[in-house]
Amino acid sequence: MSLLQLCNVSKEYRLRSKKRRLLKPCSTFKAIKQVNLSLEKGECVGLIGESGSGKSTLARLIMKLEPLTSGEIFLEEQAVSGRQLKDLVLYKRIQLVLQDSSTALHPKMKVKDCLLEPIKNFFPSEKEKWDEMLARVVELVELDFTYLTRFPHQLSGGQKQRVCIAKALAVQPDVIIFDESIASLDYDSQVSIIKMLKTIQVKEQLSYLFITHDLQSSRELCNRVAVMYEGEIVEMFDQWDVNQLKHPYTRSLVETLNVNVIR
Ligand SMILES: Nc1ncnc2c1ncn2[C@@H]1O[C@H](COP(=O)(O)OP(=O)(O)O)[C@@H](O)[C@H]1O
Ligand SMILES: [Mg+2]
Repeated sequence: MSLLQLCNVSKEYRLRSKKRRLLKPCSTFKAIKQVNLSLEKGECVGLIGESGSGKSTLARLIMKLEPLTSGEIFLEEQAVSGRQLKDLVLYKRIQLVLQDSSTALHPKMKVKDCLLEPIKNFFPSEKEKWDEMLARVVELVELDFTYLTRFPHQLSGGQKQRVCIAKALAVQPDVIIFDESIASLDYDSQVSIIKMLKTIQVKEQLSYLFITHDLQSSRELCNRVAVMYEGEIVEMFDQWDVNQLKHPYTRSLVETLNVNVIR
């Protein structure tokens, strides 16, 4: 079985109507439709699609932040959606890195304390190793140790996002979901963080679900790419060749990318 497996996952939201009558059932919006997706150990799967296609919803479902409407999500043999998998066990194995590092970091906590928080929470009985664990993640995200005594507002956007990635790594998860994690950074920061993520992934044998609307970054990082369109995965590919793509939406996306690459 795959490390992470989504089987016929669907999510419907109830839409509230002002004119709703008591006996009339409220209408629903299908944000995720029968999605099947797997992630193997040490693999990076890209999830691309336009805004509103359901990417973040899927991430929230995997993180158990919202209940599924139907389907099942397995982490190895265990059902994520079931009660048997406690949230703490899930977060020990899957971490989520969001786009906005400012809200993810407490403004009054120094970088060192931000990073020690997950270490203390997840490894309470290994106090003698806390400093070593801290040094490990700081080195992995290539952050200078002098930044440990700084507050988030004293860091650049790229440095803050490195701290968020280090927080996720501190838990020593198997899977990290990046939801547009580098989207708001400048081009140079994006390039260096993608390079760093690749190095970390190989070194630590991590699995990534890399959500983005930017094809170029998924091309650099991902082994396979799933394309979401209106809540469905319409295509899965591992070759960046327009001629091998089936769905018109993917073809138009990749054609745009090829034009940009030639330029
Ligand atoms: N809590 C909610 N209630 C109703 N609709 C929602 C809710 N959350 C997301 N949606 C809708 O689900 C669709 C997918 O949203 P989202 O997963 O955020 O897309 P993406 O991350 O691909 O931009 C959107 O149309 C959005 O409006
Ligand atoms: Mg989103």
